[in-house]
Amino acid sequence: MNELLVHPEIERVLLRQNEIEDRIDRVSADIAEAYRPHSFTVVPVLTGSFVFASDLVRRIPLPLELSFVWARSYRDGRSPGELELGAFPTAAEIEGRSVLLVDDILDTGRTLSSLREELLERGAADVKTCVFLDKPSRRQVEIEPDFRCFEIEDVFVVGYGLDFGGRYRNLPVVAALRPQGDAAGG
Ligand code: IMP
Ligand code: MG
Repeated sequence: MNELLVHPEIERVLLRQNEIEDRIDRVSADIAEAYRPHSFTVVPVLTGSFVFASDLVRRIPLPLELSFVWARSYRDGRSPGELELGAFPTAAEIEGRSVLLVDDILDTGRTLSSLREELLERGAADVKTCVFLDKPSRRQVEIEPDFRCFEIEDVFVVGYGLDFGGRYRNLPVVAALRPQGDAAGG
């Protein structure tokens, strides 16, 4: 048992390592199928997607390139703050390229739709999106991911790159956080 998982903030495990791996096998095959034989650039959104992106790209047997963007939307725990974008790929890395934007979770949709627009403005030939988790019930901006591993209900999750106040990114599973205000039993 991972000692992070016995923390009273953690309610339950939603996705185990083997489920995650099986699903990423499937999705990476779909991505390879969609792009083959063309080259493309994978753009992971830091920090949350670093675990997912590294598992994903190692399963795609195509000549892809990597370039990172940085975005932050959750400043104080669980509620979305103002979106902050930074550290974009250079024009040379993006211009005329097919781009696959990779994020940990599609929630309100604001992060991915802003990043997609921004990359197109900077000259990307086309931009597709791939997310590890999708919470469609939370959407505020109209956007559907081109590739998605798991759809989940409206619960706040941590692990596999996702954080709460900067913690839990290193959990190898996805776990639900106890709803705020709930006393931890036991
Ligand atoms: P969006 O712009 O609302 O779609 O937010 C996407 C970003 O919010 C993700 O990249 C995450 O960093 C963060 N986020 C949304 N839901 C969760 C969650 O359940 N746990 C941790 N981070 C989350
Ligand atoms: Mg994020």
